[in-house]
Amino acid sequence: MSEPLVYLNGEFVPYEAARVPVEDRGLQFADGVYEVVRYYDGRPFRMQQHLARLVRSAAGIELPLPPIEEIRQAMDALVERQGLQDAAVYLQITRGPAPRAHGLVPDPRPTVIAIAREARSVRPRPSLRAVTVSDDRWARCYLKTTALLPNALARERARRLGADDGIFVRDGFVMEATASNVFVVFAGRLVTPPLTNYILAGITREAVIELAAGEGIPVSEEPVSAHLLYQADEVFLSGTNSELGPVVAIDGRPVGEGRPGPIFNRLLAAFDVAVRRAVPAGARSS
Ligand SMILES: Cc1ncc(COP(=O)(O)O)c(C=O)c1O
Repeated sequence: MSEPLVYLNGEFVPYEAARVPVEDRGLQFADGVYEVVRYYDGRPFRMQQHLARLVRSAAGIELPLPPIEEIRQAMDALVERQGLQDAAVYLQITRGPAPRAHGLVPDPRPTVIAIAREARSVRPRPSLRAVTVSDDRWARCYLKTTALLPNALARERARRLGADDGIFVRDGFVMEATASNVFVVFAGRLVTPPLTNYILAGITREAVIELAAGEGIPVSEEPVSAHLLYQADEVFLSGTNSELGPVVAIDGRPVGEGRPGPIFNRLLAAFDVAVRRAVPAGARSS
């Protein structure tokens, strides 16, 4: 596949030509925020919610954003221009170039980058093995910043332990996975950790909660003790990239019967209907 087109500070440039200054604060301080938006049938899923979270994340690090409408149009244009149908658009906004100094920059010139790549919805979803990992991230995980090194290291630790992903545990409670939220099923009841500063308010998480309600599945946002992971009937992850992913083993122990469970299957079917229907045909964005 040829390299994707890059949106960089208002222009669409070939991948090879897209360059950022060596002293961009995104490089030196991970001083930036990001979003990943999925497009299905050429249309964005929950764009409004992604943009609202982008605004919250930027406000949380005192980063002035360019006009949101420009950002939305740039993402749509990347998908359209490259003739993509099912795609993931990565959008990143850093505080931009400045001589290295810890304090914030008085008049930042943010660096805005977006890249769209084809994304396929693999069905059936591959079963996942997870391990629990100690959550040593900072206390502002509700902001979607580019400071993802702890997540990357946790994912790598999981890989080295023969698993696919890590589930962060803080003070004995389940938080989230390295790039997704966590859902647990006990006796027909769906439970997910509540929104606190320690987890990201996932757009897919919100969709799953709504879908569960629509399906008549009792759903509750409440703290999940880590040891309960071993007693759950089902566990699954939710995220823009991974959609819904069934976890069949945790720390080497099977979850339930060791295969995707009935509630997961129902919700995935409902999700597939929702994403293809999210925006009326003919409309460009939500
Ligand atoms: C740490 C973390 N939690 C949760 C999520 C899921 O969020 P969303 O469903 O909006 O993609 C992500 C997505 O990247 C993430 O990085």
